Amino acid sequence: MTSLICNLAGVALRNPIIMASGTFGFGREYGELYDLSILGGIASKGLTLHPRSGNTGCRVQETPSGMMNSVGLENPGITSFLENELDHMVASGAVVIANLGGAHLEEYVTGAAQISESCDLRQRQGQKAVDLLELNISCPNVKEGGIQFGVDTEVARQIVREVRQVTRIPLIVKLSPNAQDIVAMAYMCEQEGADAVSLVNTFSAMKIDIAQRRSAFQNTYAGLSGPAIKPIALRMVHQVSQALSIPVIGMGGISSVEDMIEYIMAGAEAVQIGTYNFVNLHAGEELVSGLTAWMEKEKVQSLDEIRGIV
Ligand SMILES: Cc1cc2nc3c(=O)[nH]c(=O)nc-3n(C[C@H](O)[C@H](O)[C@H](O)COP(=O)(O)O)c2cc1C
Repeated sequence: MTSLICNLAGVALRNPIIMASGTFGFGREYGELYDLSILGGIASKGLTLHPRSGNTGCRVQETPSGMMNSVGLENPGITSFLENELDHMVASGAVVIANLGGAHLEEYVTGAAQISESCDLRQRQGQKAVDLLELNISCPNVKEGGIQFGVDTEVARQIVREVRQVTRIPLIVKLSPNAQDIVAMAYMCEQEGADAVSLVNTFSAMKIDIAQRRSAFQNTYAGLSGPAIKPIALRMVHQVSQALSIPVIGMGGISSVEDMIEYIMAGAEAVQIGTYNFVNLHAGEELVSGLTAWMEKEKVQSLDEIRGIV
């Protein structure tokens, strides 16, 4: 009997396929297209303490083999998420990951504490809550904060340390590929009590509007994702997996079963699907059934047989 189950800090996912933050909303729209309970997990849109309307001007731009975005963490804020979106995400049946962003240290810490307190209350009332918290220290699209926290290991250390102190929810730290030293960054997260790391967020990139003679994006640079980044992201996941004892969640350009297998062979416990959700609205269900079919064809009973074999 083939098993796709994977484990993140004691949280069991029915399969290793998670929909990546910012590319799946809170699951409402995709839930109209297919049954979300087949997914391993769903990461919410990046949440901040207060609602954000995001960046103005050009927000997304297609590139050969990928896309650039400068959405700027548009989201309804944590309070609205807890009141209006969490029940719906829980009801989906997939593991719920709250992705937390921020512009400064206090915002991360207060936000994590608010999510944590609300989830403690829900659990006391017998309600399911957020299963995992994903700390985004890597958003390149907010002017203040965001990526600054994700490049310097010592700056990032303070956020991870302080957030860890205010929550018992299993903590994933999402890393930036723009980090000065991604292995050192990941190792720091493990030392500071993270339960897992996820990588990578988007790569800092640029597009120039030659007619206007200026950058196409309000914040000059934007985040590159999609197939173009996969080989680099895969290398980073391989390096980090070899250095850490905690689980690694790999992402960057996954758009086929073979891509997922590469990440798992590089050492990933689970994978996230981002940009491909925009290319194929049924990505989640096709990848879940495709992975099962691949395992049966290859006579792989459990992903543990192939995880990290490269
Ligand atoms: C439009 C868009 C919005 C995103 N918003 C977030 C976000 O709010 N929080 C976050 O951690 N990552 C965000 N990401 C990054 C993705 O979750 C993912 O890390 C990245 O796109 C790489 O994976 P991919 O190549 O499969 O897209 C966003 C990506 C895109 C394309």
